[in-house]
Amino acid sequence: MRHLIDPLDFSPEEIDSLLNLADRIRSDPAAYQDVAAHKKLATLFYEPSTRTRLSFEAAMLNLGGHVLGFPSENVSSASKGESVADTIRVISCYADIVAMRHSKEGAPLRASRYSRIPVINAGDGGHQHPTQTMTDLMTIRSRMGRLDNLTIGLCGDLKFGRTVHSLIKTMARCKNIRFVLISPEELRVPDYIIKDVLEAKGIEYRETRSLEESMPELDILYMTRVQKERFFNEEDYIRLKNSYILTSEKMALAKENMAVLHPLPRVNEIALDVDDDPRAAYFEQVQNAVYVRMALIMTLLGLQDPKAKEGN
Ligand code: NCD
Repeated sequence: MRHLIDPLDFSPEEIDSLLNLADRIRSDPAAYQDVAAHKKLATLFYEPSTRTRLSFEAAMLNLGGHVLGFPSENVSSASKGESVADTIRVISCYADIVAMRHSKEGAPLRASRYSRIPVINAGDGGHQHPTQTMTDLMTIRSRMGRLDNLTIGLCGDLKFGRTVHSLIKTMARCKNIRFVLISPEELRVPDYIIKDVLEAKGIEYRETRSLEESMPELDILYMTRVQKERFFNEEDYIRLKNSYILTSEKMALAKENMAVLHPLPRVNEIALDVDDDPRAAYFEQVQNAVYVRMALIMTLLGLQDPKAKEGN
């Protein structure tokens, strides 16, 4: 049985097949509408979410399956003190696959050890967010036509942003990638990513505070929100929350075919007038997320692709 806990749980070849399947779904969604008939997805979300939960639900419904879950943590038995291990044993009796978001790093991994059904990590604390990464990869690939030979700028909260950690880990496996890490000193990428990923693999990277200076060299600009909920005190958050705001003036410094990504939700780090710039790809990411999650559910459940013969 397969789980998706860490983005590296899938080999580069498996990610390629997943993205190819997501592309086939995007070009003919109706062909997939009964693929998961009678299958059930449980959503166990112990942290706030709009996109991730609803896109998982939309994905399962688009495949003809069913979804079950609870609206928020305080109405689940976790609030009575139930352990993750017990919860997942129980959910294994109700559903065929589960997507879990938890504030504790490692909670989905722990759940997978006790689960009888595939577990998908839908975000664990400030750690990883592998399904957002698959969405980011699909968007980068469809915008740029490749996942190699790219200069990728990541900007904002690189310390607590789990989408950043997962994206760096995964893109670090692609050829000729350069990272420009744009953040205030306090929100730098954690040392373990620098040492165990970038330096261990000899990947070119530069840390900087200046978004303006970096703009001209970027193929991808990945903006992020300052992660308020992971700060220990409000003063630090207030001091850092406006560190970077992407405006159309800054966009004027960028390459004509650069793509701006953002996992969303946006607070104020991208000015609204950037939305009309053709290089803004963040709402496309939201759409791609549904196709990627459809492809992932199919892959983890071992469901037949009705269009497999035509493509790949
Ligand atoms: C992200 C998350 O939850 O980590 N949101 C998402 O799933 N698209 C990013 C964020 O909350 O800033």
